[in-house]
Amino acid sequence: MIVERINQFFKYVYSYVDDDDKLYIEKYLNSREKELFYKLSIHEQKHAVNVARDVDKRCSEEDMIKAALLHDIGKIYIKLNLIDKSILVILDFISKGKLKKFSKIKKVYCHYNHSYIGYCMLKELENEEVLFLVKNHHNNSIKDNAKLDILKKYDDEN
Ligand SMILES: [Fe+2]
Repeated sequence: MIVERINQFFKYVYSYVDDDDKLYIEKYLNSREKELFYKLSIHEQKHAVNVARDVDKRCSEEDMIKAALLHDIGKIYIKLNLIDKSILVILDFISKGKLKKFSKIKKVYCHYNHSYIGYCMLKELENEEVLFLVKNHHNNSIKDNAKLDILKKYDDEN
């Protein structure tokens, strides 16, 4: 788990959104969605594009791609740089989730609640399916939802 996270850190530390990624984003997001998307930090934008491209190989439905591109949009509420994110993920792992108790710290709150924050941000813009996927992409209590499982799988792998 820690090794995967370290690999992810180095994968994204020099990441950038290239012209090909921008065309991909252009294809699936409307102007309001793009306005939100480009508020994500660069490494989160790249992560979202990588998740969407992998999801696309398994299910190319527009709602799925849109949800993959927007799944972490709640992170624009409080920007976490790559070091913040890595520290939070490692502390969460070491503390076995007890870090959640420090949700009064905005960065900790955002780390644990970005799915719900994203859902609230997108509520007026997206249909029920996209909202469901964004809201539940870290929810492990929902079983046997094929689309959610695909999104979670590629979110974890990226
Ligand atoms: Fe997420």
